[in-house]
Amino acid sequence: MQQALYHPEHGYYSSGRASIGRRGDYFTSVSIGPLFGQLLAAQFAQMWERLDQIDNFVIVEQGAHHGDFARDVLGSARKGWPEFFAALCYRIVEPFPILQDRQSQTLAEYEGKIEWRDSIDALEPFTGVHFSNELLDAMPVHLICSRGPVAYATAGSQWNEKFVGWRNDQFAFVEQPIVDPALRAFITKLPSRPAGYKTEVNLAALDWIDNLATKLERGYALAIDYGHSRAEFYAHHRTNGTLQCRAQHRLFTSPFHEIGHADISAHVDWSSLAERAEAHSLHVGGFTDQHHFITGIISELAAPLEDADAKTKRALQTLLHPEILGRAFQVLALAKDVAASTAADSSFKQKNTLTTKRPVSGLPHHSPASNLRGMNALCLVFELVRLRRARGRFRLLLRH
Ligand SMILES: C[S@@+](CC[C@H](N)C(=O)[O-])C[C@H]1O[C@@H](n2cnc3c(N)ncnc32)[C@H](O)[C@@H]1O
Repeated sequence: MQQALYHPEHGYYSSGRASIGRRGDYFTSVSIGPLFGQLLAAQFAQMWERLDQIDNFVIVEQGAHHGDFARDVLGSARKGWPEFFAALCYRIVEPFPILQDRQSQTLAEYEGKIEWRDSIDALEPFTGVHFSNELLDAMPVHLICSRGPVAYATAGSQWNEKFVGWRNDQFAFVEQPIVDPALRAFITKLPSRPAGYKTEVNLAALDWIDNLATKLERGYALAIDYGHSRAEFYAHHRTNGTLQCRAQHRLFTSPFHEIGHADISAHVDWSSLAERAEAHSLHVGGFTDQHHFITGIISELAAPLEDADAKTKRALQTLLHPEILGRAFQVLALAKDVAASTAADSSFKQKNTLTTKRPVSGLPHHSPASNLRGMNALCLVFELVRLRRARGRFRLLLRH
């Protein structure tokens, strides 16, 4: 996966071949249109207020692709929150020169406002927010396969790792005992599973949170992606894991198909990520689905979206609808050195379901998913927002 996506010359992302959007390989919330960035700008402005409107509020974006999200955020901040715009500086963590070039073209009008770093390591300690949309699912994972609940000496020996080999003139998976010490340590936490059960472990995401924790002095990390709590991720029925390969909006079963021309991704194990964050004093400020997260933001907008044009309303419906992006995506908010209550929000009221000792359910159960089926989702959203406002109990992520 590392080579297929990030080989300096042939990798799907590093070569600049990755294409996102209608005419590309897959959609993301960013590719739906500027609304996603505009809504997140409102969230960032509120974080800035919660951090006492500091002069040097840093937004770090990682996985910025062609810079569209940064453009949407900066444009919206400049128009809607000029003081916030003046106080912010935007840093993009981008390891690939070809993507840095494209981002600087997209963001030409914001020259001076943006700086680039090629890794989290190269980033100065900052106060502000780290943001990522679909970064974690694009990190290379270890594929593992159960040998069954046999009477082996250690839990570690119940799993093999799947490596890529070469057989009959083509790539093929080869199973071998796990030798990587970090992977061996991780699998001791996994439940016993029948022989042949396949799954993934994303150690890169855990390293990422280790690094980020050393750079975030005060503020937030907001990660949006598709994933599951650990219990759901490693559930009995998920016998083939979550690895997905796609190109031109089509799914492939094999990652050896169209290598370097197709996307490969895996769902995020949110529980492991949240636990690792908490070990670094990054506390879980909230965890919910995109539907609840965005309706929370909308409810606080000074100029709500009832009067938006048809295109914006369609984009909103795509972002919110439970059967499109609303429930498939989750939002994990981490906070450091910010009073716990300030990271509370009604959209996040079931916060920290990920790292409590209770059985992990992961997400709010009050998702109006079933109500939305066959109904005009947008009307319902506006109605929901109106009702919650009227009751005065719908507050944004960072409001007391
Ligand atoms: C699925 S795309 C998402 C792009 C964009 N955030 C969006 O939502 O449309 C994943 C992006 O993460 C980038 N990426 C992967 N690993 C990265 C890393 N370590 N640092 C920065 N970007 C990375 C890839 O190059 C790619 O642009």
